[in-house]
Order: sequence, then C-alpha cells, then structure tokens
Amino acid sequence: MSNDTTSNDTTLVLGATGKTGRRVAARLRLRGTQVRAASRTSRTRFDWSDPSGWDTALQGVDAVYVVPPPVPGPVHEFVARAEAAGVRRLVLLSGHGADTWGDSTFGLEMRSAEDAVRGSALEWTVLRASNFDQNFDEDLFHAPLVAGELALPAGAVPEPFIDIEDVADAAAAVLAEPGRHAGRVYELTGPRALTFAEAVELISRASGLPMTYRQIPSAEYAATLVKEGWAEDDAHHVAEMFVLMERGVIAEATDGVATVLGRAPRTFEDYVVRAAAAGAWRR
Ligand SMILES: NC(=O)c1ccc[n+]([C@@H]2O[C@H](COP(=O)([O-])OP(=O)(O)OC[C@H]3O[C@@H](n4cnc5c(N)ncnc54)[C@H](OP(=O)(O)O)[C@@H]3O)[C@@H](O)[C@H]2O)c1
Repeated sequence: MSNDTTSNDTTLVLGATGKTGRRVAARLRLRGTQVRAASRTSRTRFDWSDPSGWDTALQGVDAVYVVPPPVPGPVHEFVARAEAAGVRRLVLLSGHGADTWGDSTFGLEMRSAEDAVRGSALEWTVLRASNFDQNFDEDLFHAPLVAGELALPAGAVPEPFIDIEDVADAAAAVLAEPGRHAGRVYELTGPRALTFAEAVELISRASGLPMTYRQIPSAEYAATLVKEGWAEDDAHHVAEMFVLMERGVIAEATDGVATVLGRAPRTFEDYVVRAAAAGAWRR
C-alpha cells in the first residue's frame, strides 16, 4: 500500500460559505475526505473575478464542487487551470431545466458554466437543482415573510422546490463515488410542485404567524429590489427567473434525487416544520 501523502486527495469546495457549499463541506469532512473550503471570505481565498489565486486553491486537488459565478465566462478558464493542476473530477451546481432558458441572462450564464464543465477532459457531473426550500429562510424570501407578506411575479404555475439538504446529499454522494456519475446531468427537484401561495400558507401554518402571498408584475418586483438597494441588472435578472418559471416547462417533479441517492426527496412540509421549530420566521 502506498504511503504517498502528496497524492491528490483533496476536494475543493467553492462557494464554501454559501447555502450548499457549507453543507457539502460538512458531509465530506464527516466521511473523512480532506476538504479545502474556498470563497472570497474563506481561509482559502477564491474569487471568480481574480484568477491569480486559483492555482493555489487547485494545488493537490482531486475533485471540485463548483458553485458557478454570477457572470458567464470564467468557468472556462477555471476548468483549463483545473486540468493543468491535475484535478480529475468536477461537480457543477446548475439550475433545473437550464437548457430550456433560451437567451435569457439565466440561460446564457448557466449554459456557459455547463459548457465549460461538459466540454472538459475531466470526469464531470452536473447537478441541476430547482428552487431551494431554504430560499424561504436563508435567502431572498426570508425578510418579506418575517414582515408578513411575500410578493413575487409567480402565479398558478407550481415549482418543485427542493430541500437543499438533498442537493448537498447528492453532491456529496457524487463526489464520494468516482466513476459512477461520470458524464451525467441530474435534474434534482423535490417530490411535488407547489405554488408560492401554497408554500407561504404551509410556512404560516407551521410557524403560527400570519403571512400572505401576493402576485405582482415582474417589473414591479424588479423595482422593489432596486429600492432595496439591488443593482438594476441584478434585480431584472432575478425577476426574469420568475418569467421563465411561469412558462411551466420546469414545473414538474423529477426522479433525480432517487436516481442519485436511492431514496425519495425530502418534502416541503418536512423542511417547513424543521425551520419553524428552529424559529426561522420568529418576529
Ligand atoms: N437559490 C436557488 O434556489 C438555486 C437553485 C438552483 C441553483 N442555484 C444556483 O446556486 C448557486 C448559489 O449557490 P448557493 O446557494 O450554495 O450559494 P449562496 O448561498 O448564494 O452563496 C454564494 C457563495 O459563493 C461565494 N461567492 C460569491 N461571490 C463570489 C465570487 N465573486 N467569487 C468566489 N466566490 C463567491 C460566497 O462566499 P463569499 O462571499 O465568501 O465569496 C458564497 O459562499 C448560484 O449559481 C445559483 O444560480 C440556486
């Protein structure tokens, strides 16, 4: 048996302070995998807009969990550097139905990142996740819910929200099983689709707090985000996501979680009771 301690056995986790990255890192560490957690504010500094730090982050790395940057382009350069550094595997976080988004900003960004990974000589897997359950307590929808009303440009078209714990389980499983998921694109969703109104109703019931949902036009939503301090481009970008969702082509639940993990995905209700019990929407 080799005692070579210099062999590439580290997994680089990008976006390591974010919602999926920190969960993926914890799962890998628990399995005994050596993890290098990286982001702009992590001990291993990694900034998509500053390639000068990338080679250091990639040294001695076997596999990378790639949380893509908000602008298209640099993933191609990153993949080239990863190949040169001796990395063997890439697991990319992407969006559910990313190939149906046409020339929207979202479509261009996600496709650019996917093309970079899928066109590489490395073993790759793409995880296309639907909207996260945790957007309601760890991200954009949290503050409006605490204030009592979530207003979005989403109507009767349901969304198969996924529990981010399932995304992290899937990413950790793929990273732990070299070869098994090579060249696969997994569409990861929750077990059933819910409208935003239904999702808010469940959160309100479980937390015992009054909350309402209101559908608003996309332009009004973008204007609200700008008023809250968002850059115009970013606000339109987020509003655009709802326009894409309203077409209904990504509204169906898939069997991606069962394919990767051999079990059903967690339900939205399971997420809601956990988050409510933890006081996520307490006022
Ligand atoms: N939210 C959803 O419902 C959903 C669904 C499917 C796919 N996605 C995709 O998931 C990705 C976001 O993943 P997430 O939710 O796990 O992360 P997140 O919670 O949005 O956090 C972003 C992470 O990226 C890091 N980061 C931000 N800007 C960076 C930069 N310029 N260079 C390097 N790192 C940077 C942040 O850390 P620092 O601040 O320390 O750099 C943080 O760790 C996006 O690509 C999104 O499109 C989201």
